[in-house]
Amino acid sequence: MNSLAPYSRFSVIASLLLTCAMLIVAGCAPNTAGEIISPDLGPKLVLAQSSGNVSAEPTAVPPKLAELAPDQIFAGVPDDVRQTIDNADIVAAETIALQYGCIGCHAVDPAEVKTGPTWHNVGDASITRVATESPALYLYQSIVDPNAFVTPGYQGNIMPQNFRDTMTAQEIGDMVAYLLQQNGQ
Ligand code: HEC
Repeated sequence: MNSLAPYSRFSVIASLLLTCAMLIVAGCAPNTAGEIISPDLGPKLVLAQSSGNVSAEPTAVPPKLAELAPDQIFAGVPDDVRQTIDNADIVAAETIALQYGCIGCHAVDPAEVKTGPTWHNVGDASITRVATESPALYLYQSIVDPNAFVTPGYQGNIMPQNFRDTMTAQEIGDMVAYLLQQNGQ
């Protein structure tokens, strides 16, 4: 028994030392969970937020023509043109669209793909086409001077450029009034 005593004391000390060593190593090992979130993250986020780099913009809701006042719808339209729109014959507009070939390139039915943009919701779309133009002014301009603004996604120089000469003022007014009413969802 005595002859084993020193050995067993040694082994107890050795195993104690080993345990200590393991604890020290474990204590020094990188804490992966701790490293994923940098201690700098908080200040960095505050900085990013204050510089406007991190922001949740509210989803823009497209404006509707029905929500606009007449002043907003007709702003900038010359008086004589405004008069033709006020006196417009909306029913006649469908015949005019046929007579001048508009419907060869435009359709009210959004499922019908044609050379020109759909008229399905052209009234609402006209609100935001040109930031500085009211819906009625934009639609009027689109007929009398189509290349002044080319609808995004389409090509210029396709729509006839001479409707100002071939159509009567009242026919153009009828078309503008009709197009303002095309607000399908
Ligand atoms: C030969 C084809 C063609 C004919 C005919 C035509 N258009 Fe167009 N129209 C286009 C094209 C292409 C565009 C888009 C490019 C641009 O802005 O010129 C357009 C654009 C428009 C726009 C702007 C639509 C938007 O969403 O921005 C209006 C309004 C319009 N046309 C009205 C008419 C009217 C009214 C007539 C008939 C009197 C007519 N068009 C005849 C091809 C045509």
